[in-house]
Amino acid sequence: MALLALITLTYLCYTYAAFVPPRMHYSRIDASPVPSIGIPDDVQQSWSMYSPYFAAGTYEAPPDGCLVDQVFVPDYNQIQRHGARFPTSGAATRIKAALSKLQSVTDFTDSLLEFVEDYTYDLGQDNLVPFGASQSYEAGRVAFERYSWILKGQEPFVRASSGSRVVDSASNWTAGFAAASAHRYNPVVSVILSEAGNDTLDDNMCPAAGDSDPETNAWLATFAPPMTARLNAGAVGANLTDTDTYNLLTLCPFDTVAKERPGDFCAVYEALDAGSAFMYSGDLDKYYGTGYGQPLGPVQGVGYINELLARLTGTAVQDQTQTNSTLDSDPATFPLNRTFYADFSHDNQMAAIFAAMGLLRQSAPLNATNPDPSRTWRNEKMLPFSGRMVVERLSCDGQTHVRVLVNDALMPLEFCGSGDGLCTLDAFVGSQSYARNNGNGDWEQCFE
Ligand SMILES: *[C@@H]1O[C@H](CO)[C@@H](O)[C@H](O)[C@H]1NC(C)=O
Ligand SMILES: *[C@@H]1O[C@H](CO)[C@@H](O)[C@H](O)[C@H]1NC(C)=O
Ligand SMILES: *[C@@H]1O[C@H](CO)[C@@H](O)[C@H](O)[C@H]1NC(C)=O
Ligand SMILES: *[C@@H]1O[C@H](CO)[C@@H](O)[C@H](O)[C@H]1NC(C)=O
Ligand SMILES: *[C@@H]1O[C@H](CO)[C@@H](O)[C@H](O)[C@H]1NC(C)=O
Ligand SMILES: *[C@@H]1O[C@H](CO)[C@@H](O)[C@H](O)[C@H]1NC(C)=O
Repeated sequence: MALLALITLTYLCYTYAAFVPPRMHYSRIDASPVPSIGIPDDVQQSWSMYSPYFAAGTYEAPPDGCLVDQVFVPDYNQIQRHGARFPTSGAATRIKAALSKLQSVTDFTDSLLEFVEDYTYDLGQDNLVPFGASQSYEAGRVAFERYSWILKGQEPFVRASSGSRVVDSASNWTAGFAAASAHRYNPVVSVILSEAGNDTLDDNMCPAAGDSDPETNAWLATFAPPMTARLNAGAVGANLTDTDTYNLLTLCPFDTVAKERPGDFCAVYEALDAGSAFMYSGDLDKYYGTGYGQPLGPVQGVGYINELLARLTGTAVQDQTQTNSTLDSDPATFPLNRTFYADFSHDNQMAAIFAAMGLLRQSAPLNATNPDPSRTWRNEKMLPFSGRMVVERLSCDGQTHVRVLVNDALMPLEFCGSGDGLCTLDAFVGSQSYARNNGNGDWEQCFE
């Protein structure tokens, strides 16, 4: 009897799910399964910006009283990083330099390094790896499962920055989305923003911005010397530097995501217990590269925030920074009447966007030589491969509200509300004065 009741209830739930937007739609898809690459989760998550996607929190349905307004059309905006990739060309050059020093050694005195004699570096450059394509496809499937009820027959509107790995991520995402809908929806990548022009999905437009080298180098000089000494002791004559050590460590994630099996250098990574140092290096890189620690970082996220505000409020884009006004003033290339927008970008640009909005702000700047274990700025939670920020516009008890999720973790939005993750749309717009003021003069400094 109880079983029959359960079956009936389940059937009714699935039936109603087709036309009611209940909490169930949100909670049904929690995890984002991706192909196994044979590395324990805690090790993968220590790869910082080279970590495969994992959820940073459990997706919570909006509070009771939200989504019930049938008149109001909800709106869903997501910006997502491309999936796992090969090393960039700069990184590939540094990796090869470190490897050639290591491979000049003929007699390794540490068995940990013996594999190096037979190791061949054979990775591509810059582009998405197949694993990254499946991560993006999977993300599209999850997006459809979770949000299909808001589509109301309209296709999601998809844009990508022009880098191949970003465009490929966007098109694999649309393929996953279409397949999950049994091709009732067939989204296409409608706008590709040139990385040589005005592009709110790339950090290509602020020539005067500094970089994170002072901080990442200070951290390298703090953590790496004992690791470098250990490697040089096992590879006499290689004369590895701390920079070489870091670049060799990156081969653990790069080989693993490229080959979908544990990379040979992961044994070195684990023997050196490199995880927490590697993570912090990535956090500093983004924080001082385009995040809060870079005086001209957040301003590079302003154009995107102004586009987001336009979508949330249904009014024309007002921006004097990175937007392309030709595209953004044309409803064919910047519509305001859709319910679902998906943009594809890079980690550095998303760090700038998080900082422009005010997410994950540290109470004190990250100290380059002394990591704070309770810091909130953590790449593996913000910007793994396929990392994403979702901004939901909801109607709760007759008022329009906004929620923001980063990799499914609900952001408290303490800057516009009580810190419970829900702000009224008006309060959210009010809190975005840095963007609405075009960066309070910072944009002009990009060209000084
Ligand atoms: C998915 O990405 C790969 C690159 O990894 C690309 O070759 C392929 O065309 C993409 N697939 C789709 C459906 O866009
Ligand atoms: C703006 O977009 C249009 C249409 O794609 C393009 O022709 C133009 O070059 C872009 N301008 C800039 C400055 O990016
Ligand atoms: C390492 O340094 C020694 C001493 O300066 C030098 O003889 C050797 O060629 C160097 N090895 C490499 C791989 O550069
Ligand atoms: C591109 O951005 C620059 C710098 O903000 C701006 O002066 C220019 O008008 C923009 N071009 C377009 C087509 O929006
Ligand atoms: C959105 O607006 C465009 C341009 O005004 C129009 O062509 C299109 O039909 C509208 N779409 C919906 C779903 O209202
Ligand atoms: C960073 O931490 C170190 C070690 O605790 C301390 O000496 C230094 O003053 C700190 N730097 C800043 C800028 O706070």
